[in-house]
Amino acid sequence: MCGIIGYIGDRNAVPILIEGLKRLEYRGYDSAGIGLIRRKRLDVHKKEGKIASLESALPEKLSGKPGIAHTRWATHGGVNDTNAHPQVSSDGKVAVVHNGIIDNYCKLKKKLLKEGFGFQSETDTEVISNLVASNYNGDPEEAVQKSISQLEGTYGLVFLFTDHPDLLVGARNGSPLIVGVGDKEMLLASDVNAIVAHTRQIFHIEDRETVFLDKRSYKTINTKNSVVAKEIEQVDLELAEIEKGDFPHFMLKEIFEQPDAVVRSFGGGGRLLPDFGTAKLGGLNIEKQEFFDINRIVTIGMGTAYYAAMIGAHLLENMARLPATAEQAAELRYRNVIVHKDALFFAVSQSGETLDTLAAMREIQNRGGRVLGICNAAGSTIARESDGGVFIHAGPEISVASTKAFTSQITVFLLLALMIGRMKNIPVSLGKNYIDELWAIPDKIHRILDRCEEIRQLADKYRSSNHFLFMARGINYPVALEGALKLKEISYIHAEGFSAGDFKHGPIALVSEETPALFIAVKGETFEKVLGNMEEIKARKGRIITIANVDDERLRELSDDLFLVPETDELLSPLLTVIPLQLFAYYTAVALKKDVDQPRNLAKTVTVE
Ligand code: G6P
Repeated sequence: MCGIIGYIGDRNAVPILIEGLKRLEYRGYDSAGIGLIRRKRLDVHKKEGKIASLESALPEKLSGKPGIAHTRWATHGGVNDTNAHPQVSSDGKVAVVHNGIIDNYCKLKKKLLKEGFGFQSETDTEVISNLVASNYNGDPEEAVQKSISQLEGTYGLVFLFTDHPDLLVGARNGSPLIVGVGDKEMLLASDVNAIVAHTRQIFHIEDRETVFLDKRSYKTINTKNSVVAKEIEQVDLELAEIEKGDFPHFMLKEIFEQPDAVVRSFGGGGRLLPDFGTAKLGGLNIEKQEFFDINRIVTIGMGTAYYAAMIGAHLLENMARLPATAEQAAELRYRNVIVHKDALFFAVSQSGETLDTLAAMREIQNRGGRVLGICNAAGSTIARESDGGVFIHAGPEISVASTKAFTSQITVFLLLALMIGRMKNIPVSLGKNYIDELWAIPDKIHRILDRCEEIRQLADKYRSSNHFLFMARGINYPVALEGALKLKEISYIHAEGFSAGDFKHGPIALVSEETPALFIAVKGETFEKVLGNMEEIKARKGRIITIANVDDERLRELSDDLFLVPETDELLSPLLTVIPLQLFAYYTAVALKKDVDQPRNLAKTVTVE
């Protein structure tokens, strides 16, 4: 989704902004722009398409400071140069870059048109630059504060004022904004990745705060104009973590990082108590005894995080013996949801910024519910506003298609389910078994990754199929949904995930020789049932690819292609069955020459509804 970077200091802002934009590319965007103060005038360059197009359209040796820049993911108005940001007020005094959506922009636009302000774009953002200009009488602070009190909606904003070349202003409501404090320079960005090459000293702007920066100092105020003290944090992030290294794509790098990411998620053993066959998790902010009063669990998330939430609910029900359901955050938010006092909610989000999940979390909290976060990004809004939680420690995930966050989220749910389960019905011996199985997972993932060439060949064989069906049962049903999501996200092939049990109740009409069915069949509760479902497809001449962890004769007969993953307990099997599906989607997209890391229309962090 949209990305923001701003710079104020003695250096030429242009290379800093362009490099910052490139580090924001992963979020997904369709146009980009840069605005500078040059010789006391605003100089704005904007271009539809990739940052490379913007770069090549810039005049040679362009320089200026301070500056702001933006990657836009269109919401209001089509994808073109004019609608890209910065948007400049019609009097040329104020430039702004904006993440989010202004809900009352139509009303404001009418008022501003009456005042004589002109509009060139179709964006809600141009309303902001004109509104600030209309409220501006020489004092930027007064103008910004008055304007944001008139805005309804979500925003992360950074302003330049032509009359104040020593000033950069940021404001936030709902879209993240971070200040980077450097040596006689300051940066403002929507994402720490954009500034980490310049400084590791940061602080967060909270909702309804405005920040004023010059190259040496900062001042943050709230809506009552009171100064808010900020504590500087040190960001613990190495540049190599946000670079591709020797991998052709971030997605492949992140798929291959999963053995390490899973180990980090169980704290390298530090989150496990092997002697007691249980787990310990700091940060939950819940006393162990309080778990006896919890009688139901609801996990929420969106996209891949929602599928991890489904697996989490399955694990908690099975191991912790608690009624647990998963819900899409976007749906829960607008239901008149019942929040029971004995319920515990989990908000699952890699980025910790997904607006649907954040808004659902706030709705639950407003109704008195307790929400724990399962996040990857430390310092993210969900991590900060939740009532406690567990970091998955997967490391930065750059590829739009989520991979390592998924396996790490499942790992954390396993720890939670084990911890609560051990308090209830899981005996120590069984707890120890789960821990042994978990310790063995990273090596088993390695063994699958070592065979990635087999999956590449499989992807090559099926790459011309226009439709795919993904099927599984039980705890692997969400993995089927995730496998289908991965394939459609990056290869644009139509793929749907189904419960293999539900398939015969309608979707079976889709079966044909041209539509391969990918099954996940694991040893356990539903193995025989899945074989039965495969028979139903075979009887209708469907082609079957199977991911299984048991070498069974009938399975071989029914499968046109079979990929065996190492065996593990059924409850841990999603950690292994998902790996070939991720690789399958990846190699299919590569074979079809798609933009793997930045698929069309998608954004990594969706901060609009
Ligand atoms: C977007 C991304 C998905 C991601 C989902 C939830 O739709 O494209 O890959 O799974 O958001 O993101 P989160 O950061 O909350 O896990």
